[in-house]
Amino acid sequence: MKAVVFKNIGQIALEDVSSPTIKEQKDAIIAITTSAICGTDLHLVRGAVAGMKPGTVLGHEAVGVIKSIGTDVHMFKVGDRVIVPSTIACGRCQYCEQKLYAQCDNSNPHGPHAGTAFYGGPADSGPFQGMQAEQVRVPFADVNLVKIPDNLTDEQVILLSDILPTSYMAVELADVKPSDTVAVFGCGPVGQLAVACLKIKGVKKIFAIDRVVDRLEQAASQGAHPINFEQVDPVKELMALTNNNGPSKVIDAVGVDAEKPSWCTKEESKQFEEEVHNVAPRTNPDGKNWIPGSGPSQALNWAVKSVAKCGTISIIGVYADESRSFLIGDAMNKNLVVRMGNCNHRAYFPQLLEWVLQKKINLVPFISHRVPLSAAVNAYKHFDVREKGWHKVILKVS
Ligand SMILES: NC(=O)c1ccc[n+]([C@@H]2O[C@H](COP(=O)([O-])OP(=O)(O)OC[C@H]3O[C@@H](n4cnc5c(N)ncnc54)[C@H](O)[C@@H]3O)[C@@H](O)[C@H]2O)c1
Ligand SMILES: [Zn+2]
Ligand SMILES: [Zn+2]
Repeated sequence: MKAVVFKNIGQIALEDVSSPTIKEQKDAIIAITTSAICGTDLHLVRGAVAGMKPGTVLGHEAVGVIKSIGTDVHMFKVGDRVIVPSTIACGRCQYCEQKLYAQCDNSNPHGPHAGTAFYGGPADSGPFQGMQAEQVRVPFADVNLVKIPDNLTDEQVILLSDILPTSYMAVELADVKPSDTVAVFGCGPVGQLAVACLKIKGVKKIFAIDRVVDRLEQAASQGAHPINFEQVDPVKELMALTNNNGPSKVIDAVGVDAEKPSWCTKEESKQFEEEVHNVAPRTNPDGKNWIPGSGPSQALNWAVKSVAKCGTISIIGVYADESRSFLIGDAMNKNLVVRMGNCNHRAYFPQLLEWVLQKKINLVPFISHRVPLSAAVNAYKHFDVREKGWHKVILKVS
């Protein structure tokens, strides 16, 4: 079958790989109809999240049709149309029982302390073959699949596979009330859907920070107040816009590939250079592509500095083990609440599916590009450099 394969840092290719087969009787094999490219994939290819095993199929967002099932799969049958949530859980351990699926004790083959199991990730996340492919093997299929109501198209549900649950969890971690003022750092697809979820939760004052103009415009079109961090210091701007208090809640939807502004001081630049070296010791840029962010902790620093005293920071942008910079002293002295984590995708179904069915949210406008799987590598390159309009790419597989 065809799949997008991680060859090396800065090197991906569409290749023929062997099709998956049932390994355990709780498995299902899905014939993927639509997949997608995520900001997380970019961290992996840039080398900012290290540890990818060459040969791993990339991708953790997909919908498709069940092609075969093991004898221990009881909730689904061959032919069912399904969403495949990005993270893998057993459904039965002490964490899964509390719906904390990203910390499942049993799904990561490296053991209960190895981290979140997900498709198309680094070696220590499984590795499980990913979903930018014609087929995927889904372990514990009864837990890790969600049936698609007949009247919904792939485009209406593909963003439920990862980024809507992720954005929703960011808002949950921030514990927002309608009276909160909320700043969302990062206007990529995750930041955009966080703004959408905040609106649904009744939040009136939302600030969206980025420097990519068309992404800021997209956030503004949803009703957020855009702040371009290249033009203004976002900390000062947020203070000015909140009566010198700072927003009560801040969401980091940027992660480890954060950029520093061109106006940052020489001293800050030097610190960031060291940080980049630590988080991404191996890089392999190709022209403008696959360059790790220039300020790994920049968005987080701004979050800590700008949030109101006793406020909450919700970190949904991805950071890996090598990320070791956090303004712990500032956070302590402001009595902050800091919550974070990988998404417990399964916990947010069926509620988010209900939102789609009830037309509380329409996910289709958040898709900017639809390309065939055969053109995935090229699409990655446009998305990687945040080219104008390249907001969210879905891959048409069959
Ligand atoms: N925790 C989870 O389970 C989970 C799931 C999915 C995605 N994610 C993470 O969410 C993050 C966002 O994903 P995405 O697909 O939207 O990625 P993306 O790369 O498309 O978007 C990131 C945005 O942040 C902006 N940015 C860069 N530096 C910034 C700064 N200093 N301040 C403000 N904005 C800045 C970029 O210009 C870009 O628009 C990534 O880290 C991704 O890995 C986490
Ligand atoms: Zn994703
Ligand atoms: Zn479990």
